[in-house]
Amino acid sequence: MEETNYTDGIDKLASNLQSKIDEDEAKVFSETALYEAHHPQNFGVIENPDGKAVLTGSCGDTMEMFVVVEGDRVVEVKFSTDGCGATFACGSMLSKMAKGQKTEQVLALTDEDLIERLDGLPEENLHCARLAVATLHGAVKVT
Ligand code: FES
Repeated sequence: MEETNYTDGIDKLASNLQSKIDEDEAKVFSETALYEAHHPQNFGVIENPDGKAVLTGSCGDTMEMFVVVEGDRVVEVKFSTDGCGATFACGSMLSKMAKGQKTEQVLALTDEDLIERLDGLPEENLHCARLAVATLHGAVKVT
């Protein structure tokens, strides 16, 4: 009986803590960035990609991008990262922006384009967008 109360207490504490984290995130991140971070698209690895790049940002987080190119078009993009939530949001949105585009259009994408599509990022996460874009460009350049 006592153990159940203890478990209930821990569950409640965890739930309150999660609510607090969600509230804090909602104050600094746009709804779009939060959605992408919590529902990342194209997360994973492509076996035998046409292009792949791995970069580590100044913060120490790593981003990996894989692309499949057919003709002059990027037809498949996947990303992997050990980074922050913003990095997931950036990888997810950027992979969607790049998929189906011509390689030259993908290489023309900038971190400002990505930040705009995410409806903004906090100042301290702007480098996450730079890391994602640089990694994608690196993957496309080796194709
Ligand atoms: Fe390092 Fe986002 S990539 S904090």
